Amino acid sequence: MAGQLTGQRAFITGGASGIGAEMARRFSAEGATVVVADVNDTLGKEVAASVSGTYVHLDVTSATAWDEVFVKDNNFDIVCLNAGVSTYTNVVGDPEPFPLSRLTNDMFERISSINIDGVVFGARAIIPHMCNRKSGHILVTASLAGIIPIGPDPIYGLTKHAMVGFVKSLGQTLEPHGVCISALCPGFVDTPLVSPLARIFAESFSLGVLPVDIAGDLAMRALSERINGSQWVVSAGFPIAQYEHKDPFAG
Ligand SMILES: NC(=O)c1ccc[n+]([C@@H]2O[C@H](COP(=O)([O-])OP(=O)(O)OC[C@H]3O[C@@H](n4cnc5c(N)ncnc54)[C@H](O)[C@@H]3O)[C@@H](O)[C@H]2O)c1
Repeated sequence: MAGQLTGQRAFITGGASGIGAEMARRFSAEGATVVVADVNDTLGKEVAASVSGTYVHLDVTSATAWDEVFVKDNNFDIVCLNAGVSTYTNVVGDPEPFPLSRLTNDMFERISSINIDGVVFGARAIIPHMCNRKSGHILVTASLAGIIPIGPDPIYGLTKHAMVGFVKSLGQTLEPHGVCISALCPGFVDTPLVSPLARIFAESFSLGVLPVDIAGDLAMRALSERINGSQWVVSAGFPIAQYEHKDPFAG
């Protein structure tokens, strides 16, 4: 039986682990051909091999690398700008008396360059090719932390709110070109990003941590609905839904 993505090609950053690897597995099961892009060559090659796809080493923070990656091969129906990190290993609040006092310049630079630069450079690199073909869908893995507060890691919240704003705004820009962009905004998902201490926070914050296969369901929902600039939320105990921002000036 043909899958929903038969004949399509997908490119996934951060595809070596967690949510990216799950999207690789799900898209492949739906009939797509997958390119896994990551800095973890060992895991990335394993995931790519497991889905009969290919692996490319790509550091998403490098504008030069992005300039080169789509020069020869840019015929992608789906590009997932998914690679991302948290500021701290353990997301359970800062033990120091003053918020942000543990944040070093290097930590801030690291998370900003991966979570923000990595998405902006990727979108800039693929959009001209998608616009030329008047087709394609970019999925940005933001987070529920791009919609609601995440007190223990405000910098993570900053980067993910930035992604939601980017997707909402770019959606309007891309609409006349036949290209779609959507944000995936899951709550806690069972991946290596979520440390044991973060799991304790997750239990108090929500109904817990979702199994990783929810990431495939979330991505497939965003792809099938194809609503430009949309945000797709899910959290333990709650179904997948489109989050609709209320315009304060709408009558
Ligand atoms: N796990 C969660 O609870 C959760 C919830 C909401 C959103 N997210 C987001 O989902 C995305 C994926 O996270 P995950 O939970 O699967 O984490 P993960 O740690 O399992 O995977 C992240 C992947 O990104 C890769 N990566 C890191 N820096 C990179 C770089 N400079 N260039 C290329 N690849 C790089 C890592 O090697 C890894 O394979 C992130 O953007 C994260 O913020 C995660």
